[in-house]
Amino acid sequence: MEYVFLLGRQKKLSIAELLAQKHFEITNPDFQVQDDLAWLEVSQELFDPQAVLDKLGGTIKLMKIEQEVHSAEIKNALKAYIKGINPVTKFNLGISSYLNQNLPLLRIEIDLKKELKAEGFKLRFIESKEPQLSSVQVSKNQLTDLEKGVEFNLLSKNGKVYLATTCAVQDFESYSERDYGKPGRSAKLGMLPPKLAQIMLNLASVKPGDLVLDPFCGTGTIAMEGLLMGVNAIASDFDAGQMQRTEQNLEWLNNKFDQEKDLEITIFEADARNIVKELESREICAKVTAIVSEGYLGPAQARVPSLQEMKQIFSELAGLYRVVFENYANLLPRGARVVMTLPYFRARQEQFMPLDKILTFSRGFTLQNPLSASNKQERPSLKYAREDQVVGREVFVWEKL
Ligand SMILES: C[S@@+](CC[C@H](N)C(=O)[O-])C[C@H]1O[C@@H](n2cnc3c(N)ncnc32)[C@H](O)[C@@H]1O
Repeated sequence: MEYVFLLGRQKKLSIAELLAQKHFEITNPDFQVQDDLAWLEVSQELFDPQAVLDKLGGTIKLMKIEQEVHSAEIKNALKAYIKGINPVTKFNLGISSYLNQNLPLLRIEIDLKKELKAEGFKLRFIESKEPQLSSVQVSKNQLTDLEKGVEFNLLSKNGKVYLATTCAVQDFESYSERDYGKPGRSAKLGMLPPKLAQIMLNLASVKPGDLVLDPFCGTGTIAMEGLLMGVNAIASDFDAGQMQRTEQNLEWLNNKFDQEKDLEITIFEADARNIVKELESREICAKVTAIVSEGYLGPAQARVPSLQEMKQIFSELAGLYRVVFENYANLLPRGARVVMTLPYFRARQEQFMPLDKILTFSRGFTLQNPLSASNKQERPSLKYAREDQVVGREVFVWEKL
């Protein structure tokens, strides 16, 4: 079964997420990525593709390959597909082209509409100025619900043209609500975008029923996204105000979003440097399966700090994380993952924490290359930053030795 995943803006993170996630099994881990499209073979048809996509922060659209098609035969292939569905009421139809060649799409649409109308079908074409429809157009016009409509995608791989149907698109409204609509917000201390939280949970290869700890939870974004993925969560922070926001946000999430009823969520105020003791006192130490955390990024920066200031911040953070990783080492079983971000500075020349510092503070763990074991890129990390940010986030994946 072949699916094509349209990747988000942070393409490397999206690819790493697909490689590490546990929601479905990929049978070609060396899958091809061309432009923004990843071509994946999966072991079984995705039973509920929207539910799968809702757990992938790095994919925008999920398409299922239907057949190879000759360029001259596209209209007939679409016609046969629609006749196979045999819609009885008015049916919405969209066509998106990811091909480099210019196809007379408008001509195809006009002829298709005319021919199918003559056979008694009522079709409504969704028009777009761009070669591809947007996620908003696909979802507003219900083009993933085969009773209401369909979006056809024309794609090419190795010189061949393929026809794919869209089975799910990113639920932009839900992400936006989880990001901007939650009651407990803290722009000053920084918040993780929900999509990045999902990507990090997937980089930790979490599965439903796991127990994930975020000891720098801030407003609770990772715990929230974990709960929506069916994962139990422990969230702590040493700032009482942040814990209050986490509590508010989790209650809001519980009222607003569907989540499994029997998930456990534990929240408390604690310093991450003492997290093992804190967990022991609550008798939940042994159950943690992964640690996913944005971590402390250093003091908020309105301007780019001097090189000297950056060095100072990196040294302080390395000191903090040395103690924190000693705790992690006492907490996790062998093979368990820690996914955490470290800050980097977006000066004219980007400045990162020196790798030897990172390897020193995380003794007892090995740094994984999130893109693949065979990819020997120098720095095994993935960057995430918005254009206007002075401080970016560098995502790392460790495994307990
Ligand atoms: C960048 S924020 C995390 C934001 C969070 N991911 C969110 O989405 O809201 C870092 C958090 O680490 C907390 N923090 C810093 N040092 C800490 C420590 N030693 N122990 C526990 N929490 C700490 C801060 O209070 C802050 O809330």
